[in-house]
Amino acid sequence: MQPKQFFAFFFFLLIFASCRSREAQPTNEEHGNRLYEAHCASCHGAKGNGNGPAAPYLWPKPRDFTAGVFKYRTTRGPYPSDTELLETMKKGIPGTSMPGWDILKTNDWRDILATVKRFIPHIEDSAAGPYIEVPVEAKATLESIEEGKKLYETAGCPACHGPQGHGDGPAAQILRDIWGQTISPRDLTHGPLKWGNLNKEIYRTLLMGIPGTPMPAHEGTFTPAQIWSLVHYIKAIQKMPADYNPSDPKRYLIDVVQIDGELPDDPAANAWQKAKGVPVFLKPLYSAPNIPEWLTVKALSNGKETAFYISWEDDLPDMKEGRSDGVAVQLPTKEISDPSELPYLGMGHSGNPVEIWKWEPGGLRRFASNGIGTPLTLLPSEAEKVHEKGAYDNGRWHVILKSSSFKSGGYLSFALWDADIMSHAGPETFSEWMQYSPSAEGD
Ligand code: HEC
Ligand code: HEC
Repeated sequence: MQPKQFFAFFFFLLIFASCRSREAQPTNEEHGNRLYEAHCASCHGAKGNGNGPAAPYLWPKPRDFTAGVFKYRTTRGPYPSDTELLETMKKGIPGTSMPGWDILKTNDWRDILATVKRFIPHIEDSAAGPYIEVPVEAKATLESIEEGKKLYETAGCPACHGPQGHGDGPAAQILRDIWGQTISPRDLTHGPLKWGNLNKEIYRTLLMGIPGTPMPAHEGTFTPAQIWSLVHYIKAIQKMPADYNPSDPKRYLIDVVQIDGELPDDPAANAWQKAKGVPVFLKPLYSAPNIPEWLTVKALSNGKETAFYISWEDDLPDMKEGRSDGVAVQLPTKEISDPSELPYLGMGHSGNPVEIWKWEPGGLRRFASNGIGTPLTLLPSEAEKVHEKGAYDNGRWHVILKSSSFKSGGYLSFALWDADIMSHAGPETFSEWMQYSPSAEGD
């Protein structure tokens, strides 16, 4: 009911981002520090030790850069290469709160990387190690999948990953990582996997294990053919919508298809067939089984209004008073001319406010957030400017938000509430910043 309840969590997320102001003409180092402070420090901490003010509300925990151990590795040296660090920062880590920032530009990346590396002791003293070689892939066949299944069952995987790969094996409850945190193996049936979802990336994970965690290395234990069979088995049990590519560097783009006449507010309207569904990956704050990890969005415009059709799978609709399923879009309040000026994803930051439009089965409410220190303000309903319609049908929520306030192009992000998941306050999952703009094709 109370906006406070819904967003209490995000106030914590903001503690860091909001108590700083800057805006002086930056040098590169200042630029990197400024971006780090606005977009990374609330989780990873101002000193890079993983102890940002949001960390207590997240699981898995943000990385402590000062410990010098990194999980995503494509080389064998003691420290990750620049390429490895950049890959994580651009793609983010599926199934965790770590957002990807492919939307930024090369110079932003170079500067953030330099800031992050200043937290990692001795990284500059160490030469990059050799690449982890992945042999040519054996072809996936019914036999290789069957062989992988057998190997999975006999090689001890179910103890941690569970008999069906859901991450619920008997040992899963007691696993800890070297940072002293509980850790659970990701549900292998729920793609995309955290440390790379391409076959060759899964091969590498199985070969090398995951540094800092109980996931063992299998180099020397299995032959390459056996590892490929495990990869094929994992891919065979994985559930992810077709065409969803978590490492697509353009995954943040939403095409707005131009049409004539009234924009539909019925999900069944033919006009929606003109728009391509764009997959939006979602980041759980507090990882849990069955947490929604993607939604689909379509956009139409007639030049006056723009409509977003948001839909997601949910096997149990919750419409309880106080805590129900729902979706929010977050919009920067200021004009953004370059993605590096975007507000912090967790409800903006001081001097860089956001509007949050939250839909739940009772209707739509709009809030303004300017970071901590400023109360979340409920905005007037402006019913004439914002039309909403939502329904649950056939295992999915379908929500349409239509408004003349959506400009012809801009930035937005999404957050989902799934009320049958144990509440940790705030939304269950959120997306990276997305950019919408008129489709080149139009019609
Ligand atoms: C909302 C919280 C959050 C924000 C914001 C965030 N991260 Fe992370 N980050 C995480 C979490 C959680 C992990 C660890 C996930 C895991 O180990 O499963 C992580 C891991 C990492 C890693 C380690 C990957 C590895 O190989 O071990 C790097 C590097 C990183 N983040 C960089 C950044 C940078 C740079 C930014 C800002 C541009 C950023 N993060 C913003 C939550 C966040
Ligand atoms: C002792 C417990 C344990 C055993 C045994 C184990 N794993 Fe893991 N595994 C883990 C943990 C914990 C993680 C998660 C690490 C992380 O996400 O940081 C993991 C991660 C993985 C990943 C990467 C998931 C991702 O999201 O990228 C794959 C693939 C995987 N395991 C497959 C296997 C297979 C196949 C076997 C058997 C050959 C196996 N594991 C045995 C604990 C284990």
